[in-house]
Amino acid sequence: MSSSRKFFTVFLFSTYLLILSAAQPDPKSCLTNEDGCWVRCLGFHDNSNSTYQTNLNRLFSSFTSNPGNNYGFYNASFGQTPDQVNAVALCRGDLISNPGVCLSCFNNATTELRKSCPDAKEAIVWNENCMFHYANRSIFGVLDSNSFYSWDGNKVTNVSAFNGVLSPLLESLRIKAAAGDSLLKFATGTAAVSALQIIYALVQCTPDLSQPQCNACLSDAIGQISDCCDGWQGVRIFGPSCNLRFEIYPFYNVTADGPAPAPPLSPPASNDTPSTSPGESENSPRIIIIIVVSVVGFLILIICSCICFFFWLTKSKKRRHRLNEIEVEALISLITLLVY
Ligand SMILES: *[C@@H]1O[C@H](CO)[C@@H](O)[C@H](O)[C@H]1NC(C)=O
Ligand SMILES: *[C@@H]1O[C@H](CO)[C@@H](O)[C@H](O)[C@H]1NC(C)=O
Ligand SMILES: *[C@@H]1O[C@H](CO)[C@@H](O)[C@H](O)[C@H]1NC(C)=O
Ligand SMILES: *[C@@H]1O[C@H](CO)[C@@H](O)[C@H](O)[C@H]1NC(C)=O
Ligand SMILES: *[C@@H]1O[C@H](CO)[C@@H](O)[C@H](O)[C@H]1NC(C)=O
Ligand SMILES: *[C@@H]1O[C@H](CO)[C@@H](O)[C@H](O)[C@H]1NC(C)=O
Repeated sequence: MSSSRKFFTVFLFSTYLLILSAAQPDPKSCLTNEDGCWVRCLGFHDNSNSTYQTNLNRLFSSFTSNPGNNYGFYNASFGQTPDQVNAVALCRGDLISNPGVCLSCFNNATTELRKSCPDAKEAIVWNENCMFHYANRSIFGVLDSNSFYSWDGNKVTNVSAFNGVLSPLLESLRIKAAAGDSLLKFATGTAAVSALQIIYALVQCTPDLSQPQCNACLSDAIGQISDCCDGWQGVRIFGPSCNLRFEIYPFYNVTADGPAPAPPLSPPASNDTPSTSPGESENSPRIIIIIVVSVVGFLILIICSCICFFFWLTKSKKRRHRLNEIEVEALISLITLLVY
């Protein structure tokens, strides 16, 4: 029967979409619509008048004054188990010479968490300048290799040439950052793909990690690039314990970096001739992810409703055989149209 075969095809396709949507990156974009800001909420607590909420409020208000250590790292605990709130916050390593930026970033992050995750037991926010993580479990010195990704810009023209320069750059930065001390585990660097294209890269671990933990975290993150984002000009891999980012324009404070690299077979490139400027970076792929997830979710809802409707139709209208067939046919065409 052709209509049942069509129905089966639609069913398979919707299952496929369901799996696809489940495999999408887990963090959601921030409510502030701030560029490159992601938030993740885990667990659930009663936020009305619980001890946990009280401790959480103490944590959030502590950020209006406390900038952490002088290296942009902050760890704190409020309350007693089982209502203890533990927090770790990390400012991007090149911003620590300007503590006001870190403090402002932490404040923005806590505002975001209050709005996006009002009743989460554990939550984490990443934006371009800092990371803020709180949980009911101990998170200080704990390696968490869970990581997420985003990309921007365009695809590079010669992927093998780009990766041939990128890989050794990231490996050297990983070793440099992991060798950092208990205050700062951070490294930036540049490498030239051609006279016109320079890769700017940054890697950072939370400094509470040991050297082997930081190495492991960054190795995982670097390994993920080929799976998620091979060939993109700009990529961020971010997790609770470490993060990395590279772009073909300077997105961090390059003055602390030392001289720019000499590109192969050409005169030395100056720092201020990137192919794109930071403010004009393309972010549409990230927005597309969000749109795709929403649309897919909406479609699944529609498809489920249609399936229910289909069964209701076949059950309740057995007598009107001919009309029923036509209705089902029309319904399936509509679903197929919607899906595509
Ligand atoms: C909140 O809890 C405290 C102590 O547990 C209690 O005194 C207070 O009345 C509660 N407030 C509300 C609005 O439930
Ligand atoms: C924060 O980290 C330091 C180690 O750098 C540790 O001694 C201290 O106990 C931690 N504070 C809290 C509140 O966890
Ligand atoms: C904090 O948020 C404000 C307003 O959205 C923004 O202007 C500012 O740049 C943010 N600060 C940081 C460090 O991101
Ligand atoms: C943290 O909260 C989650 C969710 O409520 C709970 O399952 C877990 O046992 C808690 N962990 C600790 C260490 O209290
Ligand atoms: C890409 O770069 C490699 C060198 O890394 C070179 O051998 C190859 O010819 C280039 N391919 C193209 C299509 O330019
Ligand atoms: C960049 O880093 C240098 C050296 O650490 C510092 O003097 C300068 O203020 C920084 N610039 C910005 C914009 O943060």
